[in-house]
Amino acid sequence: MIESVGKGRTWVLSGPTSSYALHLTDDDDLLHLHWGPRISGADAEALAAQGPPPSWPFESQLDGREEYPVEGGPRFVRPALSVRTPEVRGTEWCFAEAAVYGDELRVRLADAVHGLDLTLHHRMRDDTDVIERWVTVTHTGDGPDLELLRADAAAWTLPRRDGWRLSQLHGRWAAESLLVRSELTYGEKVIGSRRGHTGHQHLPWVALDAEGATEERGEVYGCALGWSGSWRISVQQLPDGVVQITGGVGHDDSGLLRLAPGQSYTSPVFAGLWSDKGFGGASRAWHAWQLAHVVPDAAAERPVLYNSWEATGFDISEKQQRALARRAAAMGVELFVVDDAWFGQRTSDRAGLGDWTPNPERFPDGLGPLADEVHGLGMQFGIWVEPEMVNADSDLYRAHPDWVQHHPGRARIEFRNQLVLNLAREDVQEYLWGQLDGLLSSTPVDYVKWDFNRCFTDAGWPGEDYPQKLWVEHVHALYALLDRLRAAHPSVAFESCSGGGGRIDLGILSRTDQVWTSDNTDPLDRLAIQHGFTQLHPARVMAAWVTDSPNVQLNGRFSTLRFRFVSAMAGVLGVGGDLTEWTEEELAEARVWVELYKKIRPLVQHGELYRLRAPEGGLSAVQYVKGDESVVLAWLQAQHYGEQPPRLRLRGIDSAAAYEDLDTGALHRGSVLLHHGLHTGLKGDMDATVIRLRRH
Ligand code: GLA
Repeated sequence: MIESVGKGRTWVLSGPTSSYALHLTDDDDLLHLHWGPRISGADAEALAAQGPPPSWPFESQLDGREEYPVEGGPRFVRPALSVRTPEVRGTEWCFAEAAVYGDELRVRLADAVHGLDLTLHHRMRDDTDVIERWVTVTHTGDGPDLELLRADAAAWTLPRRDGWRLSQLHGRWAAESLLVRSELTYGEKVIGSRRGHTGHQHLPWVALDAEGATEERGEVYGCALGWSGSWRISVQQLPDGVVQITGGVGHDDSGLLRLAPGQSYTSPVFAGLWSDKGFGGASRAWHAWQLAHVVPDAAAERPVLYNSWEATGFDISEKQQRALARRAAAMGVELFVVDDAWFGQRTSDRAGLGDWTPNPERFPDGLGPLADEVHGLGMQFGIWVEPEMVNADSDLYRAHPDWVQHHPGRARIEFRNQLVLNLAREDVQEYLWGQLDGLLSSTPVDYVKWDFNRCFTDAGWPGEDYPQKLWVEHVHALYALLDRLRAAHPSVAFESCSGGGGRIDLGILSRTDQVWTSDNTDPLDRLAIQHGFTQLHPARVMAAWVTDSPNVQLNGRFSTLRFRFVSAMAGVLGVGGDLTEWTEEELAEARVWVELYKKIRPLVQHGELYRLRAPEGGLSAVQYVKGDESVVLAWLQAQHYGEQPPRLRLRGIDSAAAYEDLDTGALHRGSVLLHHGLHTGLKGDMDATVIRLRRH
């Protein structure tokens, strides 16, 4: 709901529990007024009437108060927008117009010298407290081209509080999404990616709390960016304690695009959320918004998947894949995915990327016969691709060595023996469209795992006037390709992978059905990764596989099948072990776990998630609640001194009701579960359990 008050110069956007307000002063300064609990139009007018703070030597009266601080004028904060022509840098705005389109407010400002229009978009849908913000910048003049050095999607302003704390999700390959909290001090904290993809190092999200929010209580502000290329989020605490958060495309201010007259740029969405229900309440609001408005076809349940990567690596054959498929089907798997090495001369990571036709020695009749067998076994059929990349040893590179990002005369740097295609080029876009559309049209493929296994290094584009634009245009081309493929092949689902979790963000999630959370499939490490991941994203998109023990990919750790399954069942369950090596007992046990997962899947994938205890050594647990049902997944890392692990105090259930344990028949009183907790019965080292409860 959007209310417009105060002669139409103050706007209040309200969701179920929160409001956001902005105000245009008589001098046409666009100020931020409020972000927090719901307020009325009259409250917003009262805030607007408070006027500016007293002027202070050496300080700007605009800093910390503006809705979208730009470069130029009496400002010293980090600007969200920076534009230049050869002669003039910075901007000077006049208010042009404001209009409400349903749940979206658009405020348009104009700079007469540049011939530049800036529209600030704010959207708050009725069913959510998430505010979506983005900007559009248009060259409306007939003067020289405008160089857009930076155009952040939004600047968020937080109220003054004592002791802000910053939460972020940091990581690296095989250790993505790790939650860390630290005190925010004066100055600036910058996170982002200079790598061309979202990166393993940070998820584009921050949360701020003051006054010690907990999992279930307290005020939490969060901001998340929907962009899958290089990006930056800056959190700055100004000298007077106000916190401002800017976020957008590109890490540095070294240039995004050049706009000719008539051209425009639309930023991605930088979403914000206020919650007074702690980190857990904030997560649940983020999850609900993504399932309702971001993730395509989110109401559909994701199938249990088998992926052959850890089992077979590059050494694959049709016969071996058929053998794995038969075992997977017998276990209850619903989607069989052939990973790397089915195409071109891809017998190792040194060759083949770019040549998206089945390897004739490995699949003499193409992928069709395997796909048919998989379908015959009652499963869907999926394949792995990495379209944005090429090996130097490939037919594609031999034919088009100029299609990769490179600087003339300089070395073409390889990571994992591969180079990055310049997707900003139309000929590259058309080639990939032809290859992928051809593949999906000629083979009955239901699922595409789309990988991206190296960062940009030599982002040059010889012959192009403004090569810098390839950073932005690569991502736009990727999005366009995915959109086009989805439209042409609506029954095909897509997974975003980038060496595990290197490309997870709201932008890619609006075009893919699930993401590969991490190449780290160790079930214990995964608990911390999943704990971080779910701060922002829902379990419905969080793929998790059960692989072999000892863990081959990473650390050689031994774990029981039970522990591995319960860990992976917290997200979209998959299996990735070498099933030809599993014993009959293991296969039979796995079948039981898969069956159990299918029973709890509606709750895991579409229920509300409560993180009951964080994975910090002892007992950790998550709970999913949907309607009258609830399921608890709990893991005990190590029991010490014979002490019984603590009981788990459940959440989201009715204190006046009784709950039946669906496996033991035991009855529990809601009030007891909420206040005193549930005994898990876990003991020893690396034990795990699933407890299903239904209102009696
Ligand atoms: C990446 C992915 C893996 C696997 C390999 C194949 O590392 O994260 O899951 O697909 O590529 O080369």
